[in-house]
Amino acid sequence: MAHDSTREGASVTIRPASTVGGVVRIPGDKSISHRYAMLAAIAEGVSRFHNFSAARDCASTLNCVAKLGSAWKQLDDGAIEVHGVGPRLRPPSEPLDCGNSGSTMRMLSGILAGQPFASELFGDESLSRRPMARIMTPLTEMGAKISSSEGGRPPLKIHGGSLKAIHYRPEVASAQVKSCVLFAGLFADGETVVEESIRTRDHGEIALQAFGAEVGRTGNASRIAGGQRLRAIEAHVAGDLSSAAFFLCAAALFPGSQITLPGILMNPTRARLLDILTQMGLKISIGHLEEHQGELAGTIEARGAEWKGGLVAGADAAALIDEIPVMAAVAPYSRGGLEVRDAKELRAKESDRIDAVAANLRKMGAEIEERPDGMRIPGGQHLHGAELDSFGDHRIAMAFAVAALRAEGDTTIHGADAAGVSYPVFFEELEKVAGR
Ligand code: S3P
Repeated sequence: MAHDSTREGASVTIRPASTVGGVVRIPGDKSISHRYAMLAAIAEGVSRFHNFSAARDCASTLNCVAKLGSAWKQLDDGAIEVHGVGPRLRPPSEPLDCGNSGSTMRMLSGILAGQPFASELFGDESLSRRPMARIMTPLTEMGAKISSSEGGRPPLKIHGGSLKAIHYRPEVASAQVKSCVLFAGLFADGETVVEESIRTRDHGEIALQAFGAEVGRTGNASRIAGGQRLRAIEAHVAGDLSSAAFFLCAAALFPGSQITLPGILMNPTRARLLDILTQMGLKISIGHLEEHQGELAGTIEARGAEWKGGLVAGADAAALIDEIPVMAAVAPYSRGGLEVRDAKELRAKESDRIDAVAANLRKMGAEIEERPDGMRIPGGQHLHGAELDSFGDHRIAMAFAVAALRAEGDTTIHGADAAGVSYPVFFEELEKVAGR
């Protein structure tokens, strides 16, 4: 297949395609990789991870844990080895750089809250704008001393120590907050409970169990007793379903297209995406199911048929929060359009993803109604190529590369190197499956 997209510095130009086909091997899941790296650091022994995420965000986590005394290296076969230091980390000699990664800052804070030393976490311009009060509140309640910039924004200064267990009901549906509090719970006196009104992804609970901790789970409540010690594991990380979503939506653009994605994460708290894409018209079958340390994976075969569009709202908005940008980017080509409600959190991601989607779709000639907590995008529209911006946001860069495949004329995405935050070789892989 011809490589027609040209890359110039941070800009990528995407030519229209007439179909999508082939096999894509998606890198390991970002959410799981972050948690594995953090828990491996406070475990006893050497952990080894195969298909660890290639994301820049996960490199941020590895580099932070290294500064806390937990050395890591990449082996010849590509696996990542992390040397655990046990529950007591080493005080860092300098501030910890979380890069663009909210997951790194929020979840690592839970571990640092239990350490008897002071540490500082900072991030890039985008991360410096993101809300941290959501983790500062419970960690402070547990006994950590945390200060931030105005409005609960990074950088964070954490002075940890002995913590007390809490029963916490987060105000926002956030798996990062849940994992943060459960990780802190490992260092607390008593049993810590996180009770959610909307169930979020459970990779934190599953990873804790894989490392040997007991985690109780009833309904939407997860509980952990403090003082449990973790032991190193060897694990294979399943392919990232949120990265797979770009190829699934690309297949949805063209009736008759066919894409195969082996070894993709099938965790039920993430796989709601597959139900919704099926309802919207994509033909999906799953095979070769296998389990890796409590996480389910399988091969996805997807075929494009009539793309109908539909609604994402309520608990689905939380479950699909990372995939909404690409679903919105392809929505104008659907028959019935897309409505997104209850997704205010989109405004607090790496960019304001409602604004970013609206700005780029309008540049491509689409009509879109922006709302405080979502959007309404009519179907049956014809889009033209345009000069777009990634807004420094990996998912916006990739979402619009997909939308560009069905536009009339070329589309250039500036700031496209943002994609590396979760998927460094995305554009090369998309080019390989674009048929012309
Ligand atoms: C993540 C949770 C979600 C998601 C992010 C990864 C995680 O964020 O958007 O990409 O790994 O727990 P929130 O917890 O802020 O919803």
